[in-house]
Amino acid sequence: MKNLRSIAKRSLVVLAVAAAAIQFVPVQRTNPPVDGEIPVPADVRAVLQQSCYDCHSNQTVWPWYSRVAPFSWLVVDDVREAREEMNFSTWTRLTPKEQAHYLREIRGEVEDGAMPPRLYLLPHPGSRLTAADRATLVAWTKSAGIEGER
Ligand code: HEC
Repeated sequence: MKNLRSIAKRSLVVLAVAAAAIQFVPVQRTNPPVDGEIPVPADVRAVLQQSCYDCHSNQTVWPWYSRVAPFSWLVVDDVREAREEMNFSTWTRLTPKEQAHYLREIRGEVEDGAMPPRLYLLPHPGSRLTAADRATLVAWTKSAGIEGER
């Protein structure tokens, strides 16, 4: 019994030391300059900012848990991947053909309810798209899509 207890105690110490040590792994929470932000009407911008900008822009509002490993690794990696995929802060650098492609993708993700990701919505319930938000985005992707394909 005594042995078990001391093993448990030692394991806890090891865990605590490990939890502290991983905080020193450097992570990059960057917000690069905005260069070519997507030109959209105010109502569309509001929805994009509310639900998409934390990942798909260079204007991420980094939450407190993005400063605590191992959650920070998850958040930073998600943002990096999302920006690589599609970045509203550098949108005008895309060709009209690329823009038309992403507009179709956005429409698909929004209609399927696939974005924003579910895990993100747990700490960000206000970022959930309402039916009205979805209608705003879908109408915009349709009208802008025609322009993009010209
Ligand atoms: C928590 C971060 C996060 C938020 C918020 C978020 N996304 Fe994403 N999004 C990602 C990641 C990561 C990927 C790339 C991996 C994937 O496809 O799941 C992605 C991929 C995409 C893609 C490309 C899909 C494909 O398969 O090519 C589109 C389009 C997209 N997101 C649209 C949106 C829209 C629109 C919103 C807001 C309504 C949004 N996202 C909000 C993280 C996010």
